[in-house]
Amino acid sequence: MGATGSTLAYLEGALSEATYSPDELMNLDPVDDRPLLARYDLEEAARTLTPESLASRRTTSGMWRWAELLPVREQSNVVSLGEGDTPLLPQPRLGEALGIPRLSTKVEGLNPTGSFKARGMAAAVSRALELGVTSFIAPSAGNAAGALAAYGAAAGAEVTVLTPADVAPASRDEVLAMGGRLVLVEGLISDCGRIASAMAGKTGAFDVSTLKEPYRVEGKKTMGLELAEQRGWRLPDVIVYPTGGGTGLVGMWKAFGELETLGMIGPERPRMVSVQAEGCAPIVRAFEAGERFAEPWEDADTRASGIRVPSAVGDFLILDALRESGGTAVAVDEQSIAEMQMFAGRMGAGYVSPESAAALAAVPELRERGKSVETPTSSSSIAASARSIRRLPDSRILRSSIPPTTIWSR
Ligand SMILES: Cc1ncc(COP(=O)(O)O)c(C=O)c1O
Repeated sequence: MGATGSTLAYLEGALSEATYSPDELMNLDPVDDRPLLARYDLEEAARTLTPESLASRRTTSGMWRWAELLPVREQSNVVSLGEGDTPLLPQPRLGEALGIPRLSTKVEGLNPTGSFKARGMAAAVSRALELGVTSFIAPSAGNAAGALAAYGAAAGAEVTVLTPADVAPASRDEVLAMGGRLVLVEGLISDCGRIASAMAGKTGAFDVSTLKEPYRVEGKKTMGLELAEQRGWRLPDVIVYPTGGGTGLVGMWKAFGELETLGMIGPERPRMVSVQAEGCAPIVRAFEAGERFAEPWEDADTRASGIRVPSAVGDFLILDALRESGGTAVAVDEQSIAEMQMFAGRMGAGYVSPESAAALAAVPELRERGKSVETPTSSSSIAASARSIRRLPDSRILRSSIPPTTIWSR
């Protein structure tokens, strides 16, 4: 045990640009109630973080190989269940069917709690533990709940999660099984968030809501770091990502900026594409209207519950990344999400979550709009953000499947 080598230098208001000490526990920027982002001493990081040193750290495994660019200072505070280093898999059959033969997916479902949320919670819980936190609270659509319950338990901390009452039964069980307290809210994730914040104020639990503390996004950033490394330090042309609160997309975008400053990649960037469901598409609406901030979406409704997020505190960070990268935002309908969830599996991409299916379902729409998803020299990546261990496919669509066979062995 000893120092991790983190070069965390300060926290910065993502909108206000005000700076703060990184060694105090903080939620939102006190200036404007917008996200705080972690900033590193990248000159210092460049001394030890190189393609060679990264490769030699493979035995340490997972996202903690990127220690210089992560916030945890002491090795003993790292709470790890083996997150990160997920494969980037070529998807030739699915890619061919979608008209982008060099499609690959980053298989985030292989993370310890079945989704990319594990990366964010590993970073946030570890860093909060380092700063003295013993009790956590967060709203979740399901995947973050499972991740917080798992990492909180590993840290020996108390966990409370608030989920919409219609959360998948497997997600409820998962939280309860790992000793978390579960509060079911008759409402949407935004209602859960409001109550979580009030409960945090009363109980002293630390609120680890999406982008309402600075470190979940740091864990998710490692998806972008790995993507660059796995592709030999050449980023793909396009990244298509399902967007709820936006930490996945914002984290990858932040990673690319840091890698360029470190001299590990050039100025080229993938076009970032944010995918939402037609029943909840505040970012798509704001993107199309040329707005920097997104108005809350009324009566949000989609089976892809991870992207059923009516308003995001980091909306401007998502929209800035889409515009700076020359990307776009797409809304897909429920039928295409349900059909793609099954089609992707049948084309060999595994049984992906509805959110991942939404991202894949955006490809035909992008091609219809004449947006090239691939150039002859490079390729596209779509993050499969979770595997579908918690949610069943749409039963109407499932009827097209081969019915199960029952046999009696006695
Ligand atoms: C599987 C899955 N994909 C995507 C998302 C959206 O993630 P973000 O909040 O980073 O936009 C979620 C959020 O719950 C999710 O569970």
